[in-house]
This record gives sequence, structure tokens and C-alpha cells, in this order.
Amino acid sequence: MSYDIRGKNVLVTGASSGIGAALAEGFARAGAVVGICARRAERLAEVLTRVRAHSPTSQMWTVDLARLDGISEFAQRADSALGGIDVLVNNAGIPKRKKVQSLTSGIVEEVMAINYFSPIRLTLALLPRLIERRGRIVNISSVAARLGPPGEAAYTASKAALTGWSESMLIDLAETGVSVHVVNPGVIDTELFTLPDNDELVAPVEALPVEDIVNPVLEQLASGTFEIYVPEWFVNVVGGKFTDTGKYFDGSIAWLRSQNQ
Ligand SMILES: NC(=O)c1ccc[n+]([C@@H]2O[C@H](COP(=O)([O-])OP(=O)(O)OC[C@H]3O[C@@H](n4cnc5c(N)ncnc54)[C@H](OP(=O)(O)O)[C@@H]3O)[C@@H](O)[C@H]2O)c1
Repeated sequence: MSYDIRGKNVLVTGASSGIGAALAEGFARAGAVVGICARRAERLAEVLTRVRAHSPTSQMWTVDLARLDGISEFAQRADSALGGIDVLVNNAGIPKRKKVQSLTSGIVEEVMAINYFSPIRLTLALLPRLIERRGRIVNISSVAARLGPPGEAAYTASKAALTGWSESMLIDLAETGVSVHVVNPGVIDTELFTLPDNDELVAPVEALPVEDIVNPVLEQLASGTFEIYVPEWFVNVVGGKFTDTGKYFDGSIAWLRSQNQ
């Protein structure tokens, strides 16, 4: 199931910074026409300049994807402007590093809106078109979806929902020519870790430069691999967790206690 990205139309959400910006540039360098969107117009325009250096007909839209009622109209607009979307990269997202004792249902719903309901709305709005074009859906999830890290219950649930949705959707779409892909970044050096209203990250892991995610995602699409971890070794941690989840969480609690002493 090899896939050639050259000449394809790719929509990347949340491309004004971080992973989305790096992927947008990476797709353009690989020969795709790229549509990028996010809320911050100036940051998007800077990314678009870099993208257009490789792919001059690429375009941008400023949009707040947490406003779920506007997504269907945005999807149609982006699809007609690009002349049909082949690859949808659902990347826009926010962190929420707060213990459950500090969460409100309002905060949890805000996180679900942007991290889960917004990619689902965009996917459903574009699905007929993606089926017509035998397209690709790439969901940027997180290692959190598989590992349940401390202090991130709201974020983890939103990413686990996106991963669970992707797993079932993969099977539903198996006969359509559309393939589904999940990307689980570990710790990648982006603005996600300095946004306000979040606790400090609790993780004994060094952040990777953002460029390190580009080739793995391009290779994933080319080869048709369903799920990848960046860095790759996280797959072993996940495998270890599922052999005995109780023991895994006992270990997490013991590690956190040792950090607080
Ligand atoms: N960095 C990591 O280690 C890591 C690990 C696991 C998963 N991830 C996932 O990777 C994705 C990208 O995150 P990142 O690390 O690259 O962080 P980032 O630099 O903060 O990027 C987040 C992107 O999402 C956009 N966004 C946020 N809210 C939005 C909204 N309401 N409407 C439209 N766009 C919105 C932001 O743009 P505007 O603010 O301009 O709207 C920005 O372009 C996220 O889904 C994140 O959960 C990252």
C-alpha cells in the first residue's frame, strides 16, 4: 500500500507552530500542495512563506477550530480552494497539565472540543471527498493516549478518544481505499510545554527537536503503517504497560513519590 505524496493536496490543522508547522514544510518539500490553518494569522503567514518556497500554490486560513459549528463550512472552503483534499492531518490541539483535583467539567469539555470533537467534525465533513479521492487521514494523537501520564487526565482522555476513534474508523474504511494513521509524539520541543494555565511537565524524558517528527510521518504515509511513536522506543514502554497495567501504575506512583522527596 505505498503512497506517493507528490502532487497531493494536504490540509494540516494547527500549523502556525510546532509539529504542524514542521509537517507543513515537510509535506511541501516532499512535493505536496499544502493548506495550513490555525488562529494566529501572523504566525501562519510566516509558515506559509516557508511552505511556498517549495510549493507556491499552498494556502492558509485563520480559523478557530474549537468553534465546532464553523467546521463544516471551513472544510468545504478549504476543499474547494485546494481542488480536493487528499490528506487530512488533524494536528491542532492544546495541552492540559492539571491534576484532576484542579479540573472543572468546563475545562475538560474545552479540551475535548479542540482535541477530539474538532478533528471528528473535520473528518466527517471531508469524508465523502476523501473516499472519492482514496485519501489519507492522519491523526496526531499522543503517547499519553496509551500511557495515562500523571497530571494529564483531561488531555489523556481526549487523545485516547482520538486514538480509539481512529482504530475503529480504520476498519470501517478498509474497503474504501482511505487509510487511517495515528502519530504518537513523545516529548517534542514545541510551545505546548510553555503555554499558560498548565502545570510543569512531569516526565523524565529529553525533548526531541521538532524536525525529528517529519521523516517518520512521511515514511508512515508512504508505507501505510497505522501507528507510530516518535521517539520509537515508546512502543516498548506501551508494550510493557499492557502486560500488567496495575504494576505499571504502581511504578508510576513510586517514581512520583521519589521525585517529591
Ligand atoms: N509536543 C509534543 O511533545 C506533543 C506530544 C504529544 C502530542 N502532541 C500533539 O501534537 C499536536 C501539535 O502540538 P505542538 O506540540 O506542535 O504544540 P503547539 O506548537 O502549541 O501547536 C499547537 C497548534 O494547534 C493550534 N491550535 C490550538 N488551538 C486551536 C484552535 N482552537 N483552533 C485552531 N488551531 C488551534 C495552534 O495554533 P493557534 O494557537 O495559532 O491557533 C498551534 O498551531 C497537538 O495535537 C498535541 O497534542 C504534541
